[in-house]
Amino acid sequence: MPRVVLAYSGGLDTSVAIQWLRQEKGLDVVTLSADLGQGEYLPPTRERALKNGASEAVIVDLRKPLVEEFIFPALKALAFYGEGYLLATALGRPLIARELVRYARETGADFVAHGCTGKGNDQVRFEVTAAALAPEIKVIAPLREWSLKSREEEIEYAMEHGIDIGGIDKKKIYSYDRNLWGVSVECGELEDPWNAPPEDAYLMTAGPKDAPDEPVEVVVGFKSGVPVSLDGREMDGVALIEKLNSIAGAHGVGRIDQVEDRLVGIKSREVYEAPAGVVLFSAARALQHLTLPKDLIHEARILGRRYGELVYNGLWFTALKRALDAFFSQTVRNVSGDVRVRLFKGSATVVGRRSPFALYRHSLSTYDASDSFDHSASVGFIKLWGLPVQLAELIDREAGKEA
Ligand code: ARG
Repeated sequence: MPRVVLAYSGGLDTSVAIQWLRQEKGLDVVTLSADLGQGEYLPPTRERALKNGASEAVIVDLRKPLVEEFIFPALKALAFYGEGYLLATALGRPLIARELVRYARETGADFVAHGCTGKGNDQVRFEVTAAALAPEIKVIAPLREWSLKSREEEIEYAMEHGIDIGGIDKKKIYSYDRNLWGVSVECGELEDPWNAPPEDAYLMTAGPKDAPDEPVEVVVGFKSGVPVSLDGREMDGVALIEKLNSIAGAHGVGRIDQVEDRLVGIKSREVYEAPAGVVLFSAARALQHLTLPKDLIHEARILGRRYGELVYNGLWFTALKRALDAFFSQTVRNVSGDVRVRLFKGSATVVGRRSPFALYRHSLSTYDASDSFDHSASVGFIKLWGLPVQLAELIDREAGKEA
């Protein structure tokens, strides 16, 4: 029997997909579930997969590669999409797809499958990654193919085929995708962009009313653009992000609400939570301003924007992405030091930064007696800086043109 490796979340769609791949496609189904730091939301996938007809079910802990190979490069680039989506889902997909392909090769499977629908970005990310890493592999997207039109029909199919879909929550109104870098929330009331997101839509952050009435300060230590310590304690990336998620989440930091443009041409209302992400993004940006020359910051912001779009659009495993990584790794070489961030009722405010590589010189910037800036040098500078402006005006006058 030909074999397929299915990316399995344990939810309704992929549970039904196991049966469907067996019955409709006649395939031997192996499931692969990725632990990307979903925490308590990582469902009992292995047992459920086997019960639902998978011949083999594996769970792989991908938290470390997620942080080191995907999140940190994006942080160096200060990558985001739209108004502030820090790309949690978009960064997770190429990693899962890479693992799917790797496992397919290892187990001699000709197919990989995913549970994405036909109108989202995730299908693109999975399939472009598969194409980049294993052009010979064939991808099956059951949700795009089957005739089950709604959640209700899927539940019906599950009942008919004795599929264990866990305790299906009738009022599971929102669709979530969660990993260490954040949560993406869709559906339900959120589909009307006028509706304020209901409190119960949020998983990682407290509302401002429930957040502590006293602010807290965290100190993030960076080395070459990536965080290495929290409040003076060295930590590996996974632990640091987990810890910061809980501190900043409790203070309500990291909520983002935007209408965004999907790659497939539609607009959608998306709500995100990224507590650690928002703190680290602000801190990294502040440290860049302290340690990088003006023109480099300027260029990095332009290319960072590009990087965010490329990640969103599923182009992780491309030559452009690799070239941009080289640019950003060079850019953040000296972005080392500490940043103080104050967390309070949903806001994360940078209140201090220091670095051995700071380009800030007190004696040059100060207005006190220790000032070493040569004020007289400004005279000649302004003369030349303003020369073309002055000339243009003089020439206009000579030509008799009214101002
Ligand atoms: N709009 C976001 C993105 O494209 C989130 C997608 C969430 N995916 C999901 N299966 N719920 O990255």
